[in-house]
Amino acid sequence: MENKRKKIFMIDDDRTNLAIARGALVDKYIVLTITSGKKLFELLEKTIPDLILLDIEMPEMNGYEVIKILKNSENTAHIPVIFLTALIDPESEIKGLNLGAVDYVSKPFSQELLLKRVEMHLLLEAQKQEVKRYTGSLEGMLFEKTQAVFELKNAILKTVTELVESRDNVTGGHIERTQTYLRLLVNNLIKNNIYCEELSKWDVELFVMSSQLHDVGKISVKDSILMKPGKLTNDEFEEMKKHAAFGSEIIERIKGSTSETAFLEHAKILAGSHHEKWDGTGYPLGLKGEDIPLQGRLMALVDVYDALTNERPYKKAFSHEEAVRIILEGSGTHFDPLLCEVFAACESEFAEVKSSGAVCSYELMAVV
Ligand code: C2E
Ligand code: SIN
Ligand code: SIN
Ligand code: FE
Repeated sequence: MENKRKKIFMIDDDRTNLAIARGALVDKYIVLTITSGKKLFELLEKTIPDLILLDIEMPEMNGYEVIKILKNSENTAHIPVIFLTALIDPESEIKGLNLGAVDYVSKPFSQELLLKRVEMHLLLEAQKQEVKRYTGSLEGMLFEKTQAVFELKNAILKTVTELVESRDNVTGGHIERTQTYLRLLVNNLIKNNIYCEELSKWDVELFVMSSQLHDVGKISVKDSILMKPGKLTNDEFEEMKKHAAFGSEIIERIKGSTSETAFLEHAKILAGSHHEKWDGTGYPLGLKGEDIPLQGRLMALVDVYDALTNERPYKKAFSHEEAVRIILEGSGTHFDPLLCEVFAACESEFAEVKSSGAVCSYELMAVV
């Protein structure tokens, strides 16, 4: 294709100029000489050239009018246009370039100069096309790869979360519900302009999805503790508490071996900080207030809401109203007071999700 002779249209009302230009270019290119803008557009219906040489001063339609039409049509906008003109004032030169011409050759021109300019612009255009093709194929390759990685990751994620959920002996849907509550709370924060600066840095979909892994550290907890029907002893609870730090370590290890980090970074922070408490009495680090990552402060609230409103091997289910009361009592001690305010304002939406069992499922493509 690169070896095919390129096609050049030259438009000028002066036949002498057309003849000179043809003489300069005909050895290397297919040259069509055209005497008016009107004829050019008739010809363009059939053939699209690789370059156009355009006279400015012509009767009927002048060069400026011609180029405007060329640049406004999808089929012809990409064609490089070189103006040929006797007007040599800088103003008309600028005007031509502003209208999208790639260059200006003033008349009278030498055949050699015209040939050089044409060669240069055809080369530039070919390179531009090459870069475009290359970028296009890179994007395609990247997309396929991302897709494959994403599907693999999602499969692993699903397996791991199912494992955690089944071992935890928690009635199904905890993870999906928690995701839904998390999205609900985040949406209400955004609506009320709270913590927006931090949230604007996140891919919220990715964050919500990463919450699936918040309890992944429980795979290190013995069945006898995890599934104990009654109250845990102090020692047992100490064992249980290790799931937060351990979860964050597991995710750190996965993170080290993949290039995609935003998702796992959120997951790691969530796993590591969802049992911290606002007053510093939580675990594993005993962080206080805004030292606790926002991810963890959000997760703490929705995790507890779901734990409270569902039956566990060690506890009965509380009603929505009881759960709201318990959470709001924990404002400033267990939970971030600002988040509690937002929760108080949107608790009815939590009740709706809880009673309808409506959970959103996150499809693969929504996050890519
Ligand atoms: P989980 O069951 O998912 O509970 C998550 C969090 O919800 C708890 O974190 C706690 O902050 C809150 N929560 C759960 N139930 C209640 C409740 O009845 N009242 C109040 N005020 N808050 C509640 P926590 O305490 O750090 O526990 C972490 C995990 O340890 C729990 O996850 C659960 O798997 C386990 N666990 C905690 N206490 C017991 C227990 O007495 N017996 C058994 N078998 N497991 C327990
Ligand atoms: C983290 O920021 O990754 C964990 C913080 C915590 O464990 O509380
Ligand atoms: C609890 O915190 O476990 C329930 C006590 C209450 O209903 O406030
Ligand atoms: Fe947990």
